[in-house]
Amino acid sequence: MREFPVSKVCRLIEPGPVLLVTTFHKGRANIMTIGFHMMVQHDPPFIGCIIGPWDYSYNALRATRECVLAVPGVDLAQKVVDIGNCSGDEVDKFEAFRLTQIPGKQVKAPLVKECLANIECRVKDVSLANKYSLFILEAVGASINPDRKEQRTFHHRGDGTFTVDGRTIDLKERMVRWKAFQD
Ligand SMILES: Cc1cc2nc3c(=O)[nH]c(=O)nc-3n(C[C@H](O)[C@H](O)[C@H](O)COP(=O)(O)O)c2cc1C
Repeated sequence: MREFPVSKVCRLIEPGPVLLVTTFHKGRANIMTIGFHMMVQHDPPFIGCIIGPWDYSYNALRATRECVLAVPGVDLAQKVVDIGNCSGDEVDKFEAFRLTQIPGKQVKAPLVKECLANIECRVKDVSLANKYSLFILEAVGASINPDRKEQRTFHHRGDGTFTVDGRTIDLKERMVRWKAFQD
């Protein structure tokens, strides 16, 4: 084994799909890109997200305690990276990137029509936000677009390169202890 810089371990255990986070604050919707997130609990569904104080979205999330996690398909990859390279401080990103807002059912933050799925979330716990920029969100609603042609997600490898979803393997019959999670 060759030594690997510990500061770059995220490149070895890439997180889930790159997501968009929408917020609605002071009469305006904003959208940002995240790669650092994880499921924390099944039921009720808790999701941990790292949203840093350098992001305009950080204050919006702290103030409103609501957001939507939108799952983009790989066809949106370039746009999603560009969204993560400018700030709602300076740009109306929904307008600039020609994304369509759909009103949420549970939260004021908008859903993104062009995405594969949208998860409406309320902030459950901010106790680690100051220390780690970690927000624990509770999913309170979800919708998917199964008719969308491109269903593949994409995953940040930590260095500006991305892995696109590939082959699916079905090992359900081996999940003997975890049948409840197979439906
Ligand atoms: C691929 C990618 C992944 C990113 N992941 C995160 C992340 O996990 N957490 C975070 O705070 N910022 C992340 N960013 C940076 C934010 O998207 C960026 O700071 C953005 O400008 C914030 O937008 P806002 O200022 O409008 O909130 C990522 C950017 C890219 C391009």
